[in-house]
Amino acid sequence: MHDQLKGRTIFITGSGGVLGSTYVRRMLAQGARVIASDLPGHRAEALQDAHGANENFRFYDLDVGDEDQVTGIFQRILTDGWEPNVILNNAAITGELLMGAGKPFPSFADTSVSDWERTLRTNLTGAFMIARQMDRDIIGKWPCALINVASMYALNGPHHAIYEGMPFKSFSAYSTTKAGIHGLTLWLAGYWAPKKATVNTIAPGAVFNGHSDEFQRRVGELIMAGRMAQPDEIADAMLFLCSAQAGYMTGQLVNVDGGFSGW
Ligand SMILES: NC(=O)c1ccc[n+]([C@@H]2O[C@H](COP(=O)([O-])OP(=O)(O)OC[C@H]3O[C@@H](n4cnc5c(N)ncnc54)[C@H](O)[C@@H]3O)[C@@H](O)[C@H]2O)c1
Repeated sequence: MHDQLKGRTIFITGSGGVLGSTYVRRMLAQGARVIASDLPGHRAEALQDAHGANENFRFYDLDVGDEDQVTGIFQRILTDGWEPNVILNNAAITGELLMGAGKPFPSFADTSVSDWERTLRTNLTGAFMIARQMDRDIIGKWPCALINVASMYALNGPHHAIYEGMPFKSFSAYSTTKAGIHGLTLWLAGYWAPKKATVNTIAPGAVFNGHSDEFQRRVGELIMAGRMAQPDEIADAMLFLCSAQAGYMTGQLVNVDGGFSGW
């Protein structure tokens, strides 16, 4: 099947990351028009290098934490002639990204208010501002789907012991934002239903991205499938949620975690 997403015009925030770039590649292959966005930088450039020549691909610089940029984004897209009908609140700042690779990860006691607030600003306020702008600019004009991205650490606590001795930890603010984003899904689902818009949350599990054998072993023991996910396995579920076949689903949390949350 190569036309699962024909007729879908999909806008994605944070498109240059491990999962975002996989979604873009897979969506284009299924006939979607893809409006990618991210912070300016090497990830955004790699995405444009890979897909810039594809007539079904467009890219916009967008910091989801910047209110002025978010306020203008749909008008920019509409002025350029495309009408997005699927929106992915995918951008997020992880603890690792926030601290910077190689820097010591703070304990909970040492977590600064500024790191906490920066995480909330991107992951939660950014998602809210995108949804609010959808409401202002496109909801009610044509049927839409919003997909908010949570995590296996939204409604399940991390097993802190698996991070012992690892260069990264699970970050308290990250989990908090991922639980919060499902609250936004539930609030919006009923609010937008009369206007023919659906809202769902996807909660990916642990995605392999060069992790050490020891970390893979530790986390694998907590997952029914016994291993981390490949990005394409999360994309399989994401593509379904973006498709017309998901039209009767709204207000749902879809776990794609190899059974982590199912024990
Ligand atoms: N990879 C995983 O194991 C995993 C597991 C569960 C959930 N998730 C979620 O999936 C989504 C994608 O994750 P990923 O693994 O691709 O992460 P990633 O860190 O590879 O990519 C995140 C992207 O968001 C962008 N971003 C950060 N701040 C931004 C801002 N202010 N404005 C716009 N873009 C910004 C980054 O530039 C980056 O391209 C995130 O919401 C993440 O929380 C990932």
